[in-house]
Amino acid sequence: MRIGIVGLGYWGSKHVRVLSTLSDVDDVVVHDANASRMEVIAAAFPSVRQAPSLEALLASVDGLVIATQPSSHATIAREALARGVHVLVEKPLALASDDARQLVAMAAAARTTLMVGHTFAYNPAVRALRDLIRRGELGDVLHVDSERLNLGLYQSDCDVLWDLAPHDISIVNSITGTSPTSVRCWGRGHIDRSVTDNAYLMLDYEETGTQAVVHVSWLSPHRVRRLTVVGSQRMAVFDDLANDERLRVFDKGVTPAEVTQAHDQPMTYRYGDIHAPYIPFQEPLLLEDQHFVECIRTGNPPLTGGEAGLDVVRTLEAASVSLQTGTEVRLDEINLADAHRAHPPVLVLR
Ligand SMILES: NC(=O)c1ccc[n+]([C@@H]2O[C@H](COP(=O)([O-])OP(=O)(O)OC[C@H]3O[C@@H](n4cnc5c(N)ncnc54)[C@H](O)[C@@H]3O)[C@@H](O)[C@H]2O)c1
Repeated sequence: MRIGIVGLGYWGSKHVRVLSTLSDVDDVVVHDANASRMEVIAAAFPSVRQAPSLEALLASVDGLVIATQPSSHATIAREALARGVHVLVEKPLALASDDARQLVAMAAAARTTLMVGHTFAYNPAVRALRDLIRRGELGDVLHVDSERLNLGLYQSDCDVLWDLAPHDISIVNSITGTSPTSVRCWGRGHIDRSVTDNAYLMLDYEETGTQAVVHVSWLSPHRVRRLTVVGSQRMAVFDDLANDERLRVFDKGVTPAEVTQAHDQPMTYRYGDIHAPYIPFQEPLLLEDQHFVECIRTGNPPLTGGEAGLDVVRTLEAASVSLQTGTEVRLDEINLADAHRAHPPVLVLR
């Protein structure tokens, strides 16, 4: 198995490290448009082969990881799929649903693997959370609150929504087993008016009756990666920055009380134990890359395939339209691609 990696920046270099350790991978071949990145990787990973161009890379691999900036994802993925190369595209799959849909169709027609780097779907704590929700241990998922905040890194070709929110949307989609029906979004560019650096998303999942609120920011003094799930029976908190106890389950809840007298409390409260399941640490990116290699080998559909990537892109497109128009956007009622073209997210072109 020969795996290529295009884009050797912050995240691509992590893929190089991980893929170089996989016993199923015989050859890792890399390419970056920036020669200095190639030099850095050659010095750190002497066994990795270098390709002088994307074309040369595609000619010498079975699978390709695309870890370039989001505006180039669709073009590179199209080239790879057209040559029958299996593809793992970093999030977001594309910056427009037309492109994402085309990639899904190309992969299906060529019977090649198309996977998206929704890394949190491979995080053992998120998988444990999803499993306990599926076993009904939290009851109905009423509400999800997700925060992904830190200072920077401002991206060169997308705003904070397209950079950070793919993680939150993919986590909520994965734990509810569905995708949002409507989206509202507020946000603003504080440092540069044309680039949203702080945004709030409200996602309605009609199928499960869940409402999710997502706060993403490049302009916060705190680094926060926390997701709270409020179920009808129990509540859970996933804190990706906790040293241990990344997942905690609270046996707490509220139920309407029988009110017979004017001074009766309208609710009864349950305060129970807090439980932190033991979850052995495994690097999510390692699990993700292993899964990619396995999907190529077996032909099995990936956990985070092209359709999951398309769902997230459509939601982000709806959020961008909502941000521009100040209205709620229902995903089933408008032609998102057209609306998105009329209200494109303002991209920074440096
Ligand atoms: N899954 C995750 O948790 C996670 C985390 C961080 C970043 N990412 C994603 O990874 C991708 C890369 O992010 P980053 O922070 O590493 O960016 P980066 O800017 O550090 O690196 C991008 C690299 O791609 C190269 N590049 C750009 N266009 C190219 C082209 N056409 N051909 C060859 N090389 C090209 C650039 O020279 C640069 O070295 C983004 O899509 C980002 O959203 C995912």
